[in-house]
Amino acid sequence: MALSDFLTELDALLGEAPAAFGAAGDAAALEAARVQFVGAKSGRLKAVQKGLAAVDKADRPAAGKRFNEVKQAIESAHQAAVERLASASRPAAAARCADPTVPGDCRRLGRLHPITQTIEELKEIMGRLGFSVADGPEIEDQWYNFEALNIPADHPARNPLENFYLELGDGGRGTGDGNHGTAVELPSQHTQQYPAPRPHPPAPSFLLRSQTSTVQIRAMERMRPPVRIISCGRVYRPDTADATHFPMFHQMEGLLVDRGVTMADLKSTLRLFARSAFADDVHIRFRPSFFPFTEPSVEVDMSWADGWIEMGGAGMVDPNVLQAVGYDPEEYSGFAFGLGIERICARRHGIADIRELFKNDVRFLQQF
Ligand code: DAH
Repeated sequence: MALSDFLTELDALLGEAPAAFGAAGDAAALEAARVQFVGAKSGRLKAVQKGLAAVDKADRPAAGKRFNEVKQAIESAHQAAVERLASASRPAAAARCADPTVPGDCRRLGRLHPITQTIEELKEIMGRLGFSVADGPEIEDQWYNFEALNIPADHPARNPLENFYLELGDGGRGTGDGNHGTAVELPSQHTQQYPAPRPHPPAPSFLLRSQTSTVQIRAMERMRPPVRIISCGRVYRPDTADATHFPMFHQMEGLLVDRGVTMADLKSTLRLFARSAFADDVHIRFRPSFFPFTEPSVEVDMSWADGWIEMGGAGMVDPNVLQAVGYDPEEYSGFAFGLGIERICARRHGIADIRELFKNDVRFLQQF
């Protein structure tokens, strides 16, 4: 075969094959064109290649070289067509970009519970007034919850219907050593025991503490005056839940014992506290009351523009309580107070119903 005939056939293929690939509108059409032009068995390129052996021997190198060039050009035209069809089947770039109307994967940051936030602030305020933080267990015996606080056995506050008594493994009888649960956390200079507390009477059974006043006793048993502590924590009473009551709630207890402490110290401390916790326009009022562990005792009310709100109780520590922990009431006097933390929190945030605080509804809690 003459070289020119061979080259003419190659040129014809080079004209047709890329055009056919370019015209293929889908994968099936492209595949058909591929089989037609470069199919391994019966493709037209293969047929032309067979003619190579018939080319004059002297021209064969030139023919082979041209064959390879054309083969490569056709194959890359095929590849280009493959890519063209593939990119056409992908979504367009515009369609792939983010759709701003789809709800996102928003990661919510956690936050402290409003009661915890309130407690942190109360500790901070009272810390500035020189009070350190003490702690006590939520399961108490009757010594700490009642007896040492001058609440005798026949007192209505000990009524089983007013308390959550616990049946523990000992059949409800405590060990009577009066020293259960977590130790009071106090600064190291206060850990000295002085003087020895009165020997405890047996503590017959345990209960969920009904007041944080228990920590007064625990703190005084481990410190010598001056004592200046607060304790914030949970207390439990079988109250029916309503907008202002819940069977579990929080109190801030305060206790100051030193020489020459008076009711004036109590009132000025609470006034300073109220102004820091709320605002300068808060007023504070004492109403006469009775608590077994204080004498005299008062109810503490606070008011803003909209009337008085009862925030807790307070008074001068009863000499019997000082004696129960081994302090000499002739030498020392003290004041104590117990405020409701839910009330403080509700007032600060305008919460009308304290039950909201314990539903654990994130939509409510995340507002604070
Ligand atoms: N423990 C009392 C209660 O839960 C509140 C209270 C009143 C605490 C007078 C005190 C106090 O420290 O002095 O109702």
